[in-house]
Amino acid sequence: MELNELNEKLAQIQSQIENNLAEIKSSKGIFEYRKKVMDSKEGKIGSLMKEMGKLQKEQRAEYGKRVNEIRNWAQAKFDALDAKFKEQEQKARYAAEAIDVTLPAKKLKKGYLHPNTQVKNQIVDIFGSMGFQIYEGNEIETDYYNFTALNIPQDHPARDMQDTFYLSPEFLLRTQTSAGQIHVMESQKPPIKIISPGKVFRSDDDATHSPMFSQMEGLVVDKGITLCDLQGMLDVFVKKIFGEDTRTRLRPSYFPFTEPSVEVDVSCFQCGGKGCKLCKGTGWIEVLGAGVVNRKVLEGCGIDSNVYSGLAFGIGIDRIAMLKYGINNIKMLFESDLRVLEQIDD
Ligand code: DAH
Repeated sequence: MELNELNEKLAQIQSQIENNLAEIKSSKGIFEYRKKVMDSKEGKIGSLMKEMGKLQKEQRAEYGKRVNEIRNWAQAKFDALDAKFKEQEQKARYAAEAIDVTLPAKKLKKGYLHPNTQVKNQIVDIFGSMGFQIYEGNEIETDYYNFTALNIPQDHPARDMQDTFYLSPEFLLRTQTSAGQIHVMESQKPPIKIISPGKVFRSDDDATHSPMFSQMEGLVVDKGITLCDLQGMLDVFVKKIFGEDTRTRLRPSYFPFTEPSVEVDVSCFQCGGKGCKLCKGTGWIEVLGAGVVNRKVLEGCGIDSNVYSGLAFGIGIDRIAMLKYGINNIKMLFESDLRVLEQIDD
């Protein structure tokens, strides 16, 4: 074969590549076409070196140079087109993926803590700021902790005040968080200053009672603790919960585990004490039970009642929530009706 002939063939290949490239419109197309052209067995350029053998020796160097030239020419063409297409493709992708940051966001629906949880958190915060620690009691208790150790022995009439769910003759669902007092006094030495929030259970069911409800127990044991300390603490508590103008009043009452025992009323935060529907015309609303810890209870827990005295209180969390948020049926606290719950966000 003559060099001329080959040179002509090279020129043809070159123009054919030019024509083919004019048809290609993407970097992927360039990638595939480049592979085909450069293939060492079948590629138009890749296989050119195979022709070398058909030439006379003196012509080979010249031919090799020509082939290299055309290969470099093709590479440069492919590279340039590849860069051009890639840039176009990236621009198109960015345009397609563009986000309109000026669109208004979808409104997130905000969740609410349950009113009981809100009240519980508020009470914990108030007593926490007075230095109380939290004790978490057990929902399943023994008869001893729930009753006997709280000076409510078997056959004591006070047992009838609380209709109890017994699990067995010994075990029961606690009817009062007061059971936790005993665990604390058995395991800690005075000074003791705890609150204990939790669920309690009684077989009771009407507009203001539910078989399961929540209480917050309070217990302070130290030297020289008196009913005055109780009143001082509760004054702070009710002002924070019901408003600065709220006053307290202690009325004599009876609980087996306290002596003396009191019922704590607050001045009606709706009418300010004049008398309204909420306070049933009395100007006062009963909010909790409390008292000085009965010596018998202290002694039963191994605390010397000649050295130490204590005070205790039991707050009904549901009751406070109902009063505070104007809920007149305790069932509303358990129905999970969002129309009610969404209104309470303290
Ligand atoms: N445990 C009482 C109840 O459930 C409430 C109570 C009253 C708790 C007086 C106390 C207290 O600690 O001193 O009815």
